[in-house]
Amino acid sequence: MKWILFFVAAFAQGLGSSDFSYDYYRLPTSLRPQKYHLSILTHLDNPEDLRFEGTVKIIIEVLENTKNITLHSKSLTIEESKTTLRQISGEKSENCVNSTAVNVDQDYYILHTCRELIASNIYELSLVFSAQLGSGLNGYYRSSYMCPQENKLRWISATQFEPIYARMAFPCFDEPALKASFVVTLGYHKNYTGLSNMPVKETKPHDHLPDYIWCEFEESLVMSTYLVAYSVNDFSHITSSLKDGPVFRTWARPNAIPQCRFAATFGPKVLNFYEELFQIKFPLTKIDQIAVPDFETHAMENWGLVIYKENILLHSYKNLDLSERQTANSIAHELAHQWFGNLVTMKWWTDLWLNEGFATFVGTLGVDHVYPKWHYKDMMHLTNILLLFQYDSLESSHPISQNITHAHTIKDNFDYIAYNKGSAVLRMMHAFLGEESFTYGLKTYLNLYAYKNAESDNLWESLTQASHKFGVLPGNYDVKTIMDSWILNTGFPVVNITRDYASRTANLSQERFVLSTNQSDLKSKSCWWVPLSYTTQADQDFNNTSPKVWLECDESGKSAPKTIKDLPGPDEWVIFNNQFSTLCIINYDTQNWNLLTKTLTTGSLKSFHIMNRAHLINDVLYLSWIGEQDYETAFGLVDYLQREIEYLPWKAADEGLDRIKDFINHTPYVGKFKSFIRKLTTPIYEKLNTTISWNSNPDKIMLLAITIKWACYCGIEDCIEKSLLMYRRWRSYPFGDEFNPVPKTLREIIYSTAIEHGNEEDWEFMWSRYQKSSEEAIQLRYLKALGFSQDELLLQRYLELIFDLEKPFSVDHFSDAFHALVSTQMGFELARKFILNNVDLIYKHLQRFNANAWAYGLFEPLSMLILSQDEFNSFKEFYYQLFYNSFADEMMEKLQLKLHFIERSSYQISEAISKFI
Ligand SMILES: *[C@@H]1O[C@H](CO)[C@@H](O)[C@H](O)[C@H]1NC(C)=O
Ligand SMILES: *[C@@H]1O[C@H](CO)[C@@H](O)[C@H](O)[C@H]1NC(C)=O
Ligand SMILES: *[C@@H]1O[C@H](CO)[C@@H](O)[C@H](O)[C@H]1NC(C)=O
Ligand SMILES: *[C@@H]1O[C@H](CO)[C@@H](O)[C@H](O)[C@H]1NC(C)=O
Ligand SMILES: *[C@@H]1O[C@H](CO)[C@@H](O)[C@H](O)[C@H]1NC(C)=O
Ligand SMILES: *[C@@H]1O[C@H](CO)[C@@H](O)[C@H](O)[C@H]1NC(C)=O
Ligand SMILES: *[C@@H]1O[C@H](CO)[C@@H](O)[C@H](O)[C@H]1NC(C)=O
Ligand SMILES: [Zn+2]
Repeated sequence: MKWILFFVAAFAQGLGSSDFSYDYYRLPTSLRPQKYHLSILTHLDNPEDLRFEGTVKIIIEVLENTKNITLHSKSLTIEESKTTLRQISGEKSENCVNSTAVNVDQDYYILHTCRELIASNIYELSLVFSAQLGSGLNGYYRSSYMCPQENKLRWISATQFEPIYARMAFPCFDEPALKASFVVTLGYHKNYTGLSNMPVKETKPHDHLPDYIWCEFEESLVMSTYLVAYSVNDFSHITSSLKDGPVFRTWARPNAIPQCRFAATFGPKVLNFYEELFQIKFPLTKIDQIAVPDFETHAMENWGLVIYKENILLHSYKNLDLSERQTANSIAHELAHQWFGNLVTMKWWTDLWLNEGFATFVGTLGVDHVYPKWHYKDMMHLTNILLLFQYDSLESSHPISQNITHAHTIKDNFDYIAYNKGSAVLRMMHAFLGEESFTYGLKTYLNLYAYKNAESDNLWESLTQASHKFGVLPGNYDVKTIMDSWILNTGFPVVNITRDYASRTANLSQERFVLSTNQSDLKSKSCWWVPLSYTTQADQDFNNTSPKVWLECDESGKSAPKTIKDLPGPDEWVIFNNQFSTLCIINYDTQNWNLLTKTLTTGSLKSFHIMNRAHLINDVLYLSWIGEQDYETAFGLVDYLQREIEYLPWKAADEGLDRIKDFINHTPYVGKFKSFIRKLTTPIYEKLNTTISWNSNPDKIMLLAITIKWACYCGIEDCIEKSLLMYRRWRSYPFGDEFNPVPKTLREIIYSTAIEHGNEEDWEFMWSRYQKSSEEAIQLRYLKALGFSQDELLLQRYLELIFDLEKPFSVDHFSDAFHALVSTQMGFELARKFILNNVDLIYKHLQRFNANAWAYGLFEPLSMLILSQDEFNSFKEFYYQLFYNSFADEMMEKLQLKLHFIERSSYQISEAISKFI
C-alpha cells in the first residue's frame, strides 16, 4: 500500500528523477529562507475540479556554499520549465537550475544548480506549481456545507499545515526552526472572501480571469511554515469590540453566525488576559477565528487565523450543556499558542511539549480567569492527571522529550504525554517555584526567544535564573537537573512514606509506578527529583505548595532515601503533596492510611483540600490494584464517599471504580460490588435529586452525571424510573429531533438506562432516531444506547447490524457499538458466543480496516471479551498475524495486566467489600 502511494507521488512531482544520495530526515543546513512571496489562485466553481495554482518566490540566504537547493514538496505538480533562480545580492553572476530530483521518502524536491551558491549571497528561487484541493484534511484542502436556502453544497477551502503539511500546499523549507516572513496573495472569484494570517493590504482584479480578484495580505512577522494559513470561503462574520487591541473577528457559514456569539465574546477576553499575564502585546493588528465544517483536529493555532472544527467553535446554549466549556477550553488553548508556539517556537518536534504542554496549562488559567465560578483550574488539572496516569503507568509509555528520526512519525507525538504530562509538569514547577519566580522566568524566556526557536534547556535557564533571583530553590539546585528527570524519564514515581511513630520521623523512598507487578528492575531504574509539601492534622495548611522536602538523585542516577523529623505523634495523620501539585502517587504505612480514613469517615471533610481528597482516592485504588495496599484499606477509605458532595473526589473514584467494574461484572462478585456502590451513591443521589438546578456550575452538572451513572448501574429504582420517564417523554413528542427534554450532558446515561430497562417500543424508537439522524456524533450516541438492550432477539438484530458486510460500519461506529454491547452481562455473553462461532466473518471485517483504525477502534472492545490466559494467547496470535504496531503492544500489555489482576484480586476484592456492605 505504501509503495503504491510513493509511486503516485513521485509521478506527480513531474520530471525529477529519484535521488536518495541525501536521505537524512533533516534539511541541509547550508540554506535559510528569509521571505516567501506566495500567490495562490483557488478554483471553487466546479465541484468536479476543485484545484489551485501557485507561484512561490523564496528569498534564500546561503550559509555555506552548496550546489543544490533541497526543500520540501509533496503531491504538487511543479512546472519545471517556469523555474527560475536569480541572485539578488553579492557579486553578481549568472546561475541556473541544471537538474532536479525527488526523494519521496523524505518529501524532498532537490534542485541542482549550475554553479555553486556562495555563502552570504542571497538568491531568489521561483517555482510554479499546482494541485487538486486535498480531499483529506491536511495541506490545502476542500471542505463543504449544505446551504439551506439553495439546498446545495457550497465549497470552501482551508489549510492544516501542522506538523508537516505546508509542503503539500507550496514548496517550502518545512521545519519549525526555518522561520521566515510570508507575503500571501490569494486569487479567487469575487463572490468569496479570502483570509490569511495577516490583514488585507490591497485587492485588485485578476489580469485575465473575469470576476476573479487578487487579494494581497500584509507581510507577516517572522514565523514557522506550519503556522501559515489561508482560506477562501463565503462565510459571514461578527466583529468583537476590543479596546486598544487587535480587530477580533469570528467567521462561520452564514446561517451559523448566531452560534458564534459565545466564541466572539470569550476570545477577546482571554486574549486580553494573556497580554497582561505575559506583559507582551499580541503583535498582529487582527486575529480571526473561523469555524470550518471539516477539520482534522479540534483546532489549529495559526498566527492571526485560528481554525476550528465547526462543532468546537459553534455553540448554542442549552440547559445542562457543557459544550460551552469545551469551546472555551479550545479557544483558550489556541490563543495561548499565540505566545507559546507562534511567538516562541520549539526548535524541533522533540520539544513539542513546549508548545502543547504550555498551551494546555496556560489555557486552563485563561478559562479560569474568565469564568472563576467554574472551578476550572482544579477540575482540568485533575482530569489531565487522571487521564495521563492511565497511559504513563504502562511499561510501554515514553518520555515527554522524544527523539524523532523520520518526519512521518512526528504526528505520533501529539499525544497525552505531550499535552497532559507537559501541562502537569508545568503546574508542578509553578507550585515549587511559586507564582512570582515562575512568571518572571516565563517572561524572560518569552522575551529572549521571541520570533526565534527554543528548546527545553533554554526554558530551564530562564527559570533557574528566576529561582535564584527569588531564592526559591536551595542554592545548589538548578531547574535543568530537576526537570530533566521529569522530561527524560518515562513514567512517574510512587513515593513511600513510612512513619516511625515513636521517633516522630518518616522514611521517604521512590520508585517508578508501573501497573505490572513483576518489574522490580524497571521500577528501581529511574529516579526523579521530587518536590514534596506536606501538612499535618494539626496544621491543615494545604495552601502552601512550596516543597518542605526534596527527594534527590545521586550522580549515578540512583534515588537517595530521605528521613524527615518532627512529625506529630501516633494519633495524628500526615498528608503529602498539597493540592496534588507534584505528579506522583503517595503510599503511606497502614496506620497513617487508617488515621486519614478516620477523619474522612468521621471528622470534617474540610480538613482536606478537595484536590487531596481526589489524590487519596486515586492513589489508594491504584495501589490496591497493583497489590501494594490491601483492598480493605482501599475500600475503607473509599467508603467515606457516602459523605462526599464534591465533584473532584467523585471523579477520581469514578475512574478507579470503573477499572474494577469492567472485570467484576463478569465474576460472581458483581452483586456485592453493586451493593457497595449503592451504599456509596445513595446519599449523593438523594441530595442531588432535590438540589440540582438547571443552570448549576459545570462541576455540579458533571457530578450529577457521575452520580446518575452509578446510581442506575447499581439499580437505584428512582434513577431507573426517572430515566425511563424522561426518555418516554421524549418519545411522546411529535418532533423528536428538535425537541428533546433530556439534558444533553445526561443523554448518554439516560438513553442507555432507558434501553436497558425499557421495552421493544423503546428500542424501536431509538432505532428510528438512529436511521433518521444525519449528524454523526448524535447517530453514534443512539447506536451505543441500542446495544444496552436486554432482549435477546433485539440484541441478535443488533449484532447482525454491526457485522453486516453489505452495509459495513465505519470503525467509529463498529467500535462504539461493540463497546456498548459488551458492557452488559447479556450483551457480553451473546457477543462472545457470536465471535467464537463466526471467526471467519470477523476476519473479513478486520481486513476492511487498516492497522491504526484496528488498534484504536477495535482492539479494546474486542479484548474485553477475553477472560482467560488461553484466550489471551490465541487472541494475541490472531492479532499479530493481521497487524503489527506499537499501539498494539501497549494494548496487549494492558490486557495482560487485567488478566493477571483478575486472577490475583477478584476474590480479595470480594472479601474486602464484604466488610463494608
Ligand atoms: C545538497 O547540499 C548539501 C550541502 O552542501 C549536501 O549535504 C547534500 O548532500 C546535497 N544534496 C544532494 C542531493 O546532493
Ligand atoms: C548538470 O547535471 C549533470 C547531472 O545531474 C552533470 O553531469 C553536469 O555536470 C551538470 N552541469 C553543470 C554545469 O553543473
Ligand atoms: C456569484 O454570485 C452571484 C449573485 O449571487 C451569482 O449569480 C453567481 O452565480 C455567483 N457566481 C459564483 C461563481 O459563485
Ligand atoms: C535521543 O538522542 C540523543 C542524542 O542523539 C541521545 O543521547 C539519546 O540517548 C536519545 N534518546 C533516546 C530515547 O533514544
Ligand atoms: C513501597 O512499599 C511497597 C509496599 O510495602 C513495596 O512493595 C515497595 O517496594 C516500596 N517502594 C519503595 C520505593 O520503597
Ligand atoms: C487558603 O486559601 C483559601 C483561598 O485562597 C483561603 O480562603 C483560606 O483562608 C486559606 N487558608 C489558609 C489556612 O491560609
Ligand atoms: C427525588 O425527588 C422526587 C421529588 O422531586 C421524589 O418524589 C423522589 O422520592 C426523590 N427520590 C429520591 C431517591 O430521593
Ligand atoms: Zn495545541
